[in-house]
Amino acid sequence: MATTVPSIAAERLPALLAAMPKAELHIHIEGSLEPELIFALAQRNGVAIPYASVEELRRAYAFTNLQSFLDIYYAGASVLLREQDFHDMAWAYLQRAAADNVVRAEIFFDPQTHTARGVSMETVINGLHRACQAAKAQLGVDAELILCFLRHLSEEDAFATLEQALPLRDKFIGVGLDSSELGHPPEKFARVFAQCRLHGLHLVAHAGEEGPPAYVWAALDVLKVERIDHGVQSARDGALMERLARDRIPLTVCPLSNLKLCVFPTLADHNLRALLDAGLVATVNSDDPAYFGGYMNQNFLQTFAATGLGARHAWQLAANSFEGSFAGPARKREYLDRLDAAFATIAAAA
Ligand code: ADE
Ligand code: ZN
Repeated sequence: MATTVPSIAAERLPALLAAMPKAELHIHIEGSLEPELIFALAQRNGVAIPYASVEELRRAYAFTNLQSFLDIYYAGASVLLREQDFHDMAWAYLQRAAADNVVRAEIFFDPQTHTARGVSMETVINGLHRACQAAKAQLGVDAELILCFLRHLSEEDAFATLEQALPLRDKFIGVGLDSSELGHPPEKFARVFAQCRLHGLHLVAHAGEEGPPAYVWAALDVLKVERIDHGVQSARDGALMERLARDRIPLTVCPLSNLKLCVFPTLADHNLRALLDAGLVATVNSDDPAYFGGYMNQNFLQTFAATGLGARHAWQLAANSFEGSFAGPARKREYLDRLDAAFATIAAAA
């Protein structure tokens, strides 16, 4: 942990968490689709949805595990048809991110959810990319896209998806692996990840959200990913924890997601502090904020309130988010300077 973090009074912690610059490395853009926007897009596109009102839809957001959430999440995405829809969804997220002082967002999208409904890859990527460009110009948020393969589908399907996306290669920086984890180990996607690597794409994968430490090992050793999404189950395997710490493999942890999907019974039981204490490059992220009750700052505020983490942890988590990002070295240095400046300002105001 850095030795230069100025001391900040406990009552200033919420203001600090909100004001500090941070990177979000684990956000599914389809998971930022708020019920109000689902209804607006359903009406705009003439798509029927099986809920009478925004309130009724929100009441359905009571999840018992990952799969119970995914069923509703994929149904919600069915209102997205046109390029403008993808743009509007991403733009809404990016405005919220900017308000939370997110200065960099590396955004997941699930093209197979859309191409399976007859929406073209160009429609999806061009709409999202236009919002990312606007965010850089108008909000000062460096926004990049990461294409995720759905692991409940076949590797053949993933290869077809990659082929459709490659003409738009300059509009996304990496690939990931998401959807139903249990029963779909990383090994299933070994060949397509190897191919993506040859294309110079960054590689990440969800592992150890509900799945065992063995899935995290396989993501590292078979898929050769640079970051692990979630990874909280790694704490069950001491040798794995040592490996993650030694190789400085970032974990993109999502506390409110873990709470809502019953990975931990309460936020106070979350193992974020243990991951930091073990020297891991753990970060805080929102995953699917429209479904899990909070964007970035809510994840920080609620987790810190429940676990008693303090200002030094806040600095470490923000610094980890920049270190773990796919920004270049000069940009990372700039982000860290901004982080230190924000801490100095808050300390001086106390
Ligand atoms: N897709 C969207 N959110 C996800 C999560 N938390 N785990 C796996 N796949 C997802
Ligand atoms: Zn996720």
